[in-house]
Amino acid sequence: MYPLLFSLVFSRMDPEDAHHLAFRVIRMLPTLGLGRVVESFTRPSESLAVEALGLRFASPFGVAAGFDKDGFAVRGLGNLGFGHVEVGTITAVPQPGNDRPRLFRLVRDRALINRMGFNNGGADAAVGRLSRLARRRHRPVLGVNIGKSRITAVEDAVSDYERSTKVLAPYADYLVVNVSSPNTPGLRGLQELDALAPLLEAVRAAAGRTPLLVKIAPDLADDEVVRICELATRLGLDGIIATNTTIARTGLTASSAEVERIGAGGLSGAPLAARSLEVLRLVREHVPAGLCVISVGGVETAEDVQERLDAGATLVQGYSAFIYRGPAWARQVNRGLVELRRRRDRDAAPVAA
Ligand SMILES: Cc1cc2nc3c(=O)[nH]c(=O)nc-3n(C[C@H](O)[C@H](O)[C@H](O)COP(=O)(O)O)c2cc1C
Repeated sequence: MYPLLFSLVFSRMDPEDAHHLAFRVIRMLPTLGLGRVVESFTRPSESLAVEALGLRFASPFGVAAGFDKDGFAVRGLGNLGFGHVEVGTITAVPQPGNDRPRLFRLVRDRALINRMGFNNGGADAAVGRLSRLARRRHRPVLGVNIGKSRITAVEDAVSDYERSTKVLAPYADYLVVNVSSPNTPGLRGLQELDALAPLLEAVRAAAGRTPLLVKIAPDLADDEVVRICELATRLGLDGIIATNTTIARTGLTASSAEVERIGAGGLSGAPLAARSLEVLRLVREHVPAGLCVISVGGVETAEDVQERLDAGATLVQGYSAFIYRGPAWARQVNRGLVELRRRRDRDAAPVAA
């Protein structure tokens, strides 16, 4: 059903318009009273629940940052079966993001390229919405991802992140410092240890008891990843999210002319999967066992999610495949995980004599 809808309707629309249309429907699910009905088909099996960051996740699978920038559709996404929703990136100062077009599909590669540029309504505007959400008992786990405002100079990044943290941490189940999006000039430079250490220290202090994670780029060299793992451990962070989109353009079937026509931006989806898995393995190897590692990048099927969990991920997120798989995606992944585990248990069971 959805593949038909995608090829007849969505794929012919501008990708950002298609996103807004689908987003409006998801956002309306709880208000139409349909949420609970949908949920009766999508609720993850109890066996999938994960305890992490002092929280209970109904499923290890959640929505990555960027899909719901301002936190309007968290409950609707929960109705679809996602165990957590990471809203954002939210910045201290509201901003429109880059000029359109800024979101592109590479359908045959099951990939996206985006240069959205943190379009969002700003931290202050999100407070009312997130505080109401935080008070609800029936909702997915709420992550809040923060980034540097575009008008703030890189040298003033610490106070900019601090401001967002003070405003938003009280309502977040967990908070993420995003230093890895390729679409804000100078942002990824904050991954360098000299800049990252004071930034994370300041945010850690401002976040109070809210669990704190840092989200890293797949384009870091392996030794840089290792140094960030050591820093996160030393500073007592609660987790690492690996990875954001990549500035690389390798492994694509799209013609170089098409890729050139699209221009700058972060590549996500299937072509990111191999590096994302590699970075996950590296991170897991260099952090304490109890540290929460969230894997994201190119995940599409239950097998992909289980592969990440087997490689040491505590939780897994996705975004791009949502565009290609549609609203039943989380349900398919959750059911697939149960089925995979059932098969594993059966194969591992001793054969009766
Ligand atoms: C259109 C779009 C917007 C995104 N915006 C953000 C963002 O604001 N903050 C962030 O940390 N990651 C953002 N991401 C990155 C995703 O959270 C994720 O790390 C990346 O897309 C890899 O996962 P995927 O292959 O499942 O899409 C965005 C991704 C896409 C496709």
